[in-house]
Amino acid sequence: MEKKAAPILAIESSCDETACAILDADGTVRADLVASQIADHAQFGGVVPEIAARAHLAILPGMVTEALDRAGLTPADLSAIAATTGPGLIGGLIVGSNFAKAMALAAGKPFYAINHLEAHALTARLPGITPLQPEFPYICLLVSGGHTLLLDVQGVGRYRHLGTTIDDAAGEAFDKVAKLLGLAYPGGPALERLAREGDPTALSLPRPMRGRAGCDFSFSGLKTAVAQKLFQSASALASNAPLPRPMAADCAASFQAAMVDIFADRLDHALRQTPVAHVIVAGGVAANRAIRAALSTIATAHGAQLIAPPLRLCTDNAVMVAWAAQERRRASLGPDPLDAPCRPRWPLTALGPAS
Ligand code: KG4
Ligand code: ZN
Repeated sequence: MEKKAAPILAIESSCDETACAILDADGTVRADLVASQIADHAQFGGVVPEIAARAHLAILPGMVTEALDRAGLTPADLSAIAATTGPGLIGGLIVGSNFAKAMALAAGKPFYAINHLEAHALTARLPGITPLQPEFPYICLLVSGGHTLLLDVQGVGRYRHLGTTIDDAAGEAFDKVAKLLGLAYPGGPALERLAREGDPTALSLPRPMRGRAGCDFSFSGLKTAVAQKLFQSASALASNAPLPRPMAADCAASFQAAMVDIFADRLDHALRQTPVAHVIVAGGVAANRAIRAALSTIATAHGAQLIAPPLRLCTDNAVMVAWAAQERRRASLGPDPLDAPCRPRWPLTALGPAS
């Protein structure tokens, strides 16, 4: 094993994806495995933490062995082992990080405790995944089922919160409205497809926080407004019959249009207060084409460029965790002790040279 490759094996287990990846210091991906647990949770309409933790435990041993096989490496060849230690569901974090710590101890390798949000925020810097590697500072919009964050990324370990949601996460809002429309979990992608058939002006819906100072988000009022409109429609139909498809499509399109307006407004505020050359999007909601297009328009209006990593790296994966560990090592942040705690809540502002 040549020394300069310095491969790091990383484990991600903070939510409902079990993932393991091996990445060289120059960003070469030697293994990238992700097992989605969506099928295990779909019948409950959301992620069940206990089921997630058990699934991570069942999947990880085989997955780590397979990652090493694919990379043609043994634990002795690795330069370090990393795991997400927060934020996320505590059971999954404990399973994944203890697995990584045990490997590090047995192989005598350094351990890196990685913040999941930092991993999302640094992914776009992975060489070769986008035409250009953004320099610091840049703005990162992280929009997933669990997070809605606007970040000023000033450097590795140096983050400033520009805004976050004061209630639901953006993906959660998509999933809840999709459920109201009778779409299966996770409903975001299905809602986007249905929206294509509908009229985005059919329903008059609120745009919470639009025009407000700062960059915070709120989605629960919008979701409630959709629920009320649906309730009125159901009464008008005077039956428990499912919503006719054209009506559901209008509802999906109107909701998505409101989400688009909210994101455009919040990014506009962020770029006014923090002018940067690049805006990065990450998280599952970044797959939404209407939202991406609106963000790109706003970025361009501010002389900035929107960068969206490939979807596989936008959603939860372990490549981003391994890359964050490589970035932290290069910045002389870490390694971390083997008793580094798991932190279900771990704000990015707590990271940095002093942490
Ligand atoms: O990042 P992610 O895969 O997982 C975590 O939340 O950890 O994000 C999943 C979220 C779900 O809420 C899903 O409905 C939403 O991203 N999502 C979308 C789309 N694709 C996924 N929301 C809107 N439009 C989409 N095309
Ligand atoms: Zn995530």
